This record gives sequence, structure tokens and C-alpha cells, in this order.
Amino acid sequence: MDFLDSGQKFSPTRDTDWDTTHQFLPAADNKHLEKKPGRRRTLWVGLGLVLSAAAVSLLTGLLVWHYHLRSDVRVKRVYIGSMGIRDQNFLPEYEDPSSPQFSSLAKLVSQQLKLIYSKNSVLTKYFQGSSVQAFSEGDSGSDSLVAYYESEFDIPVPQEASLDEAIQSLEPPAGSQQSQKGRLLLKPVDALSVNNVFSRAIDPRMSRKSLVVRKSFNVHVREGGVLRSPGFPDSSYPPSVYLQWRLRADPGHRVRLDFHTLILEDDCQQDFIKIYDSLAPIELRSLTEQCGYPHGSLSFLSSGNVMLLTLVTNEEKNFPGFRANYSQIPLTAQKCGGTLSGDKGSISSPFFPSNYPPKTSCVWNIEVPVEKFVKVQFSKFLLGNHSDQCPDDYVQVDNKRLCGRKLKNTVITSQSNTMSIKFNSDSSYVDQGFTAEYEAFVPNNPCPGRFQCTNNLCINQTLQCDGWNDCGDGSDEDNCVCDASQMKCKNGRCKPRFWECDGADDCGDRTDEENCEKCKPGEFSCRNGNCIPEESKCNGEDDCSDGSDESKCEKSLVLQQCSAFTFRCGNGRCISKLNPECDEEQDCGDGSDEDNCQCGTRPYRSSRIVGGQISREGEWPWQVSLHIKGKGHVCGASVLNHRWLLTAAHCVQDSGSDKYSQPDQWEAMLGLHVQSQTNEWTVRRNIKRIIAHEDYNPMTYNNDIALMELDEDVTLNQNIWPICLPSPTHDFPGGQVAWITGWGATREGGSVALVLQKAEVRIINGTVCKNLMSDEVSAGMLCAGVLKGGVDACQGDSGGPLSVTGPSGRVFLAGLVSWGDGCARRNKPGVYTRITRYRGWIKEQSGV
Ligand code: ARG
Repeated sequence: MDFLDSGQKFSPTRDTDWDTTHQFLPAADNKHLEKKPGRRRTLWVGLGLVLSAAAVSLLTGLLVWHYHLRSDVRVKRVYIGSMGIRDQNFLPEYEDPSSPQFSSLAKLVSQQLKLIYSKNSVLTKYFQGSSVQAFSEGDSGSDSLVAYYESEFDIPVPQEASLDEAIQSLEPPAGSQQSQKGRLLLKPVDALSVNNVFSRAIDPRMSRKSLVVRKSFNVHVREGGVLRSPGFPDSSYPPSVYLQWRLRADPGHRVRLDFHTLILEDDCQQDFIKIYDSLAPIELRSLTEQCGYPHGSLSFLSSGNVMLLTLVTNEEKNFPGFRANYSQIPLTAQKCGGTLSGDKGSISSPFFPSNYPPKTSCVWNIEVPVEKFVKVQFSKFLLGNHSDQCPDDYVQVDNKRLCGRKLKNTVITSQSNTMSIKFNSDSSYVDQGFTAEYEAFVPNNPCPGRFQCTNNLCINQTLQCDGWNDCGDGSDEDNCVCDASQMKCKNGRCKPRFWECDGADDCGDRTDEENCEKCKPGEFSCRNGNCIPEESKCNGEDDCSDGSDESKCEKSLVLQQCSAFTFRCGNGRCISKLNPECDEEQDCGDGSDEDNCQCGTRPYRSSRIVGGQISREGEWPWQVSLHIKGKGHVCGASVLNHRWLLTAAHCVQDSGSDKYSQPDQWEAMLGLHVQSQTNEWTVRRNIKRIIAHEDYNPMTYNNDIALMELDEDVTLNQNIWPICLPSPTHDFPGGQVAWITGWGATREGGSVALVLQKAEVRIINGTVCKNLMSDEVSAGMLCAGVLKGGVDACQGDSGGPLSVTGPSGRVFLAGLVSWGDGCARRNKPGVYTRITRYRGWIKEQSGV
């Protein structure tokens, strides 16, 4: 990147660099003031300093003069704009830049621009020329045609700001969609009846000198089709390109663009795509900018019949790119707003869950019987960045404007039997929008038979004072009288007693985690119950006499003795650092803690079930779908390397006539995202060998682990990558965040999912878990879940991974989905096979 920046000497972004030269002076002066040498030397040193200060000032002065004041140093400024024209019919030939009709109209537009600029002294003085890039039908009533152009100015550096001002002064005043009639009608030499012009300086990343390839593609979306970045999916996109796709729908239609895959470099300063509600990259019409591996909705709609997609890449680090489907939909489809009179109902922003189109406004008028009021609750709310007045995109409920992305579950009530809800999107930057449910209620009894939260949410009465924050604002847990099975937190809340001292802050003020240690303050409590002075912890000596004071340390001291809790290096020595393996730091003298660490990363994502969400393709590259031939998905598994998979032993037990223990019954689908949809990164393999744990007990689910050897190696790719195995002493403490993934049932008794699901859970303290489960939770098991209920693994997820991200960003396999009491029930976590317990067994059986 250094190369690029030095090439762009006069780019406006360098302004800040010139500013720093001003700051050199005071810095030098400071040094001067600090120094107080002896009297004699002062004179000489002083003289020297004065001279050098003079030299620095002179140089700085020269530089300032050279770049800021010398009026002959000029920069090129390019503005991208649109011109709305009246009384011009759009001809089909205007779609083709090589047609004579295009050329002659383009000439008129250029002349007209010159004329417009000639009315402004700044613009006319520095104007170099314009070129027209495309035309489209007008969509705003009075424009019958829109021209998209680029104008170039050559301007002295100090005047750049005044150029921006002059350009913007041509626009109709903010708020008015159209200029007043005749505002830009320039008699008598006007070639065209101009309604309005809008332009902005080009995005500096699009004018990088290093962009060696610049190409435009014109696409008519009528028939629908697919756009791909060059090389997709076989190779990465090319370096140093600026590509744009001009998408055009029939008049009276919108363009719709849905990304199926989008994987770019993480840094938007390097590679990015940008989508515009326009045929030219006018900043004012930008709908979105994306880079990396985006997670939100990737479905976009235009306001009119055109859209522009641009892809810009830099010299290095190229990624797979994208594949997107385009289509057109009539403008009349999905009319939003209207009058609603039912007692309850739901509304959402247009095209939800796609991003709403720009320049859209809808009003819903809700009217309920006179004796009732209305309340509305937003179950999804994603409306751009929050700002005070919500001037851009917003939802307005009666007189209250809402925007931003933090208002999920907000409830608003009316003061009468009517409520009006308005949705508005401006002309740039879109978001996913909202969904909301409204309901009529009797004012003196807003939550009949239910509890009313302070935030006006109504919840089931049984949820009050049960230890869970069901309201979202905690008001259902305030002012409670705790029963015998509960403890009282300092903040007044009641929590189940078995939550005390489980390592998670359940009270919210940590009072449930205070006074848990048997040792005195200032002492460390060893795992064996001994108490030692806090200072003795992590000093390299085994003061506890079980080694537990030397196992969770920041630094990796080599220990005299190994213990059950310390990491053992390849050379047999043990170190005191907690979870040192694959943490990107060499801790063992022999480096063995960083051996075999080609795992736990998402190759094309640098960084960064029940109740779950859809995951992104390639997000869980170690996830495998195990199919029974002719039957389909049965269990999950994880990729350990190019040859071995890990799954649950209960997945490979014969049941009746089903011979699940036979390798030839199975096929493994690696790199799969959607069931029955394979692509270039999906690999299907037969199984050569199944090794179930010899002590697997089908009654207790003890030792629920099995290895599968593939019949043929797989080549790792962006969707197939191993997960890291934790060392036997790796610690996954209670409260730690983990992810479960799988195609299993999305509710208890439900059917399996089509798209790979993911859900966030937490590791649950073993003692707590034992108290919660009706069946025995043994030492080879690990619990994880969300005790509030609603999030869990379920039938069909078995054998799949419980993934935990370590501090270095690598993902470790903490557990295998094994069993549970139903799925996602309150206070019933999922139970997983505890991998640390079986690390040795895996090594013995497979060599991994
Ligand atoms: N045994 C189930 C299977 O075969 C997995 C059950 C996991 N259940 C749970 N609630 N976490 O797919």
C-alpha cells in the first residue's frame, strides 16, 4: 500500500499529511524548552537550535507555500452525477453507448453541463470536461430521462473546498425532491430542459492509480440471471480492478439483487463492493458497501429500474468474490401501508427480510374499537445508524421517530384507539428494516391475565420472579420475595440457589459469586481444597500440592512437576500457561504447543438447531453431515484432518434392521451448507472404518464418541477445514460462550433443517448441570446451553461440534452433541461428550 499512497501525491486524502508538518514545529520547540544544559554550552547549543529551528521553519514554510498557497499546484477532481431531464423520451437505443442516438444526446448533455457550470465563477474557471456514461428512464414524475455523467475539474489545492460547495449549490434545496420549475432552465441557449443535477466527488478508492483494469458490463435483468465476480468459483477475483455492472429492468420495475455468496478481503479499504440506486457511482445514491464475509441480509432492491454494482480490488490478497442472482419485480408489487382494523396483526417494512428499497414511504393507520388503545412491539428493528432526529430512515409511531438497530422488543402504546405507523427510507444506505406486531388493549388492563413489564411488554405471570429476565428490562425480577429454593441477590433479584458460585454472574451484580471460596481473602483456593497465599499462585512452584495453582497462568513457566491441570509439552515438560496450544505463541521449549495448528480458522474469513439462526456458507468449515445412503442426513461430525472425522458413538449403533455400525451404510458430506445442494466446495466421501469407543454405554451415553476414517483423503478448501482438538488439560470454564451447529430439528419433535443452523450457548458448570438433569452427568460429559430455554441442539445434531473460540481466534472442539432432556427446555441444558477426556483416545486410535 505504500506504493499506492506515494503515487497519489495530490489526492485530497493526503491533506491530513500536510497538517502534520505544521505539528513538527511545536514538537521541536518542546525539546528546546526541556533542555537546560550548563551556561557555557547554552550559547552554542542555543545557537544551533535557533539555526535548526530556523531551517525547519523555512522548510515547513516552503512546503506550506508549495502545497497550499502556490496557486499553480493543481489536482484533478472528478464528480459523478445525474441530470434529470424533462420532455425527452427515452429511446431503446440510449441503452447502447455505441449508438448514434446515444452519442448525440450525450453531446447535448455535455453542452448543457458546460452551460450550467458557466454560471458559476469557480466551476467555469476550473472545468475540464464531461463525459456521459449512461441514460435511464426517469422515475420521479417530472424527469422523463436521467443522464449519468462524470465531470472533471483541475483545481488549485487551496480551492478544493470551494469547488465542492459550488457543485452542491447546483442542487435543489434539501427537502424538495425536485427543483422549482425553471430553476436550471437556462434561456435561451439551453439544449435540454434540465430538472435537476446531483453530483459528488468520486469515492477516492475508485480513482486509485493502481486500478489497471476498468470495465463496465450492461445487463438487462428482465429474464433473471446470475452475476459472478471474475473467476468465481474456480479462482479468486483478479487484483487491481474496477468493475461495474449496470443493471437495468423494464420501465415500471425494480431491480432485485440477491447475493448467494460474498467473500472479499476483510478490509474495505482494500477490496469492496458497493451498490448504487443509479447507473453511476454517485455517493448520494449508494445503497450499501460490503467487504469481508458479511452477515446481514444480502438482498437489495432499487427504487427505480436501474442499479449499479461495483467491485474494486487492490494489488494483493484476493478472495473468492461473489455470486448473485438478479431479477426484476413490478413496482406495484408489495404495496405497503394501509388501514388496519383487526384487534391484532403484524406489519413489516417492504420486502422484509430483504433490505428495504430506498425512497420508500408507507403509512399504516391502525384503528381499534373506541374503548381500546393500541400497542405495537417491534420484534426486528434494523434501521441504519442511530442519530438524534432520525433524519434518514425511520419508523414513526404517532409522533415518535425511531431509528438505529437497538430497538428490538420495544413496545409503544397509543393514547387513543388509533395509531399511525410510518416507515420512511431516504435515497441512500438501506438496511433490513423491521417487523412488528400490534394489538388492541383495554387501557386499565393492558395485560389481561399477564404481567406488565415496565417497558410495557406483557409476559406470562409464571415468569415473574422466577430468576429470569423475561421482560428484557429485568422488571419481572424486581421486588420479589425469594422462596426457599432461591437466593436473594444484593440488587433484590431472586435466583435459583444452585446458581450460586457457578462462575457466571447471574445476579447482574456478581453477588451470587461472592463468598464462594472457602479460603480467606488474599488466599487462592486450590482444587484439592487447600488454601495458599495468592502470591504463591503462578510462581512456578506447586504450592497446592495438586499443581492447580500453576495451571491457569498468563505466563508459561516450565514446571518441576506435571499435574492433572498443566499442559504437557512434546518433551515431557509441563508449563503453567492456561490453554497454550495453538495460541500463536510458542510456550514450550520445543515449540510443541504450536505444532499441528492448521486448524480452527475459517480460511476465507480472517478476523473475526433450536432457537438458532442460519449460518453463512463456510462459517463452520469443520461441520460434516453424515448421511445414511438412500436415507439422507442422520448425524453431524467434525473434520479433524484430511482423513478423519469425529462423531458420537450413539450415531453408529445398529438399531433393528439399520446397520449404522457398518461403514458402507454411510456417506460423509463435507463443506455442505444446504442439504441436497452441493457446490464446487462440497466433497462426498465413503467411510472406510468406524471406530466407536470400546466403552460406549448406550444406557448411560458414557463415552459417546466415535472416529470415522474416510476412504480417500479430502483436499481442504474454504468450506472444509479441521477444528482444533484441545489438549487434555484445556479448560473450558462455566459461562464461556460456545456455538452449536447442525441440520438437526429446529424444535422438539420437529423436522430437520435445510440450511446449516448455528446457535450461541454457554458452557454450564458441572455441579449445576448435575443438579438439573434427571440422568447422570458423568465426568466424560460437558453441559452447555441457555438455561432460560429456547436454544439447544436437538435430534439430528448428534455427533456435531460444540465449538469454542480461543483468545487467538482459533476454534476448539469442546464437545460432541450427545443427549438432552427433550430439546431447548428451560433448565435443561444439552449434554456433550467432553473432548478433553478423550484426547488421548483419539490420538491412540487415529494418530491425530
Ligand atoms: N441424541 C440426539 C441426536 O441423535 C441429540 C440430542 C441432543 N439433545 C439436546 N437437547 N441437546 O441427534
